[in-house]
Amino acid sequence: MFRTVIRWHRIFKNADEALQRIPPGKPLLLHIAGRKVCVVNSTPPESTTAPTFAAIEERCPHNGFSLSRGWTTFDENGQCALVCPLHRYAFGVQNGRRINGGGETARAFPVEVRDDGVFLGTEETQWGWRFKE
Ligand code: FES
Repeated sequence: MFRTVIRWHRIFKNADEALQRIPPGKPLLLHIAGRKVCVVNSTPPESTTAPTFAAIEERCPHNGFSLSRGWTTFDENGQCALVCPLHRYAFGVQNGRRINGGGETARAFPVEVRDDGVFLGTEETQWGWRFKE
């Protein structure tokens, strides 16, 4: 029997550290649980709310280029996307879906700002005879 669980990784001590380490308008490449992940500041410009962060896989689903070399952009609704520099396809950072046509989707990872840090979740498949709920 298999099941999928989310394993949370503390990637920053707090939101301030995340804001300092993520370059403005650019993703920060992190290696988390054997994966290369682009973490971005997804807070819309001019926003007065608490900062938000998002993460998608580093490999572009179109042709495999490095999304960590791309940049972030925002639509009129404040939705953040990460643009791949090779062919300029843009991927929404909340779900990884390409937003300017096409069906490519990058893997997205949940990111949560909590009292004790900023956490990124990775899916893991576990196998066992019985699982306690
Ligand atoms: S490789 Fe990223 S858009 Fe083509």
